Amino acid sequence: MKGPPRIEINEVGPRDGLQIERALVATDDKVAFVDALSACGFARIEVTSFTSPKAIPALADAQDVMRRIARRPGVVYTALIPNIRGLERALEAGTDEMNLVMSCSETHNRANLRMTRDQSFDELAAILRRAGEAGVPCNVSLSTAFGCPFDGDVPAGDVMRLARRLADAGAQGITLCDTTGMAYPTQVAQLCETFQRALPGAALTVHLHNTRGMALVNAVAAWQTGVTRFDAAAGGLGGCPYAPGASGNVNTEEIVHMFACMGVATGVALAPLLDIVHGLPGLVQRALTNPLLAAGPRLATHQPPAWLAERF
Ligand code: COA
Ligand code: ZN
Repeated sequence: MKGPPRIEINEVGPRDGLQIERALVATDDKVAFVDALSACGFARIEVTSFTSPKAIPALADAQDVMRRIARRPGVVYTALIPNIRGLERALEAGTDEMNLVMSCSETHNRANLRMTRDQSFDELAAILRRAGEAGVPCNVSLSTAFGCPFDGDVPAGDVMRLARRLADAGAQGITLCDTTGMAYPTQVAQLCETFQRALPGAALTVHLHNTRGMALVNAVAAWQTGVTRFDAAAGGLGGCPYAPGASGNVNTEEIVHMFACMGVATGVALAPLLDIVHGLPGLVQRALTNPLLAAGPRLATHQPPAWLAERF
């Protein structure tokens, strides 16, 4: 099995994770969450989203959080933005890199962003111009790239056309998002290969959800085609509140542990990350199922039973 020797993990728990939680997480706790993540070795941390507080009440304190986090050199602090108003707020708060968002499918775009895809594209093109003038790099996250919970299959040609138009409009990177875990490995491999052949100059990130248990296997499929950038959320938090059936992102600790087993460098230290994951049920006020935390890393071996020493 072959793929790149080194990958980057973008931790999206503070944004994709907290946007859907029922419990209100205090601003101080969000800042502490991001600060703890900063010590783990992530390339990027998606700190929050500058969306309408009516649409995403959980992240209404975006500016406070972004201003108050401790910036660790080498970590890029990003935020999700859907419109020009979001860009203005994100710039004011000192966001390093913008992650613009729109959907590949029409119905999810309307449900999530209350705009048609054409309206969203025009909004994003305007953001790309403004951010370009401000010298702030932009990535675009394309939701429902592998399927839409309303419209079903999304043709790969539609995804690629949109990606190309956004790259032409100035996006430095594109994230292909599997919003509700509809992707499967051969589909992921095919779209990632097509993308890298067609748009070699655009940084490709893959954003997976584990809704149907295929997130890790999809990550391997993407890695085998040469993908080096993955979004993931600590504890497997996450989900889009405007996509029926949405559930958690690929677990950061699981993807880090898996690639470490395979000898692929992620730059992320598992031990401090597991400490953070241990505290997540307290942060979001609900129990989380976390097999890796329960079992420990694969070489966390156990003492043999005492009777073995007597018998052998
Ligand atoms: N930041 C803060 N407030 C914003 C905002 C932003 N980026 N964009 C709009 N608003 C405010 C407006 O000022 C207005 O406030 P008012 O009612 O007090 O006057 C209100 O929100 C509605 O504005 P409008 O432009 O009509 O937006 P909308 O209701 O059509 O919603 C979006 C459009 C894109 C702002 C909204 O759907 C949204 O934020 N969606 C994000 C969804 C999301 O993050 N999903 C999960 C991640 S994929
Ligand atoms: Zn997501």
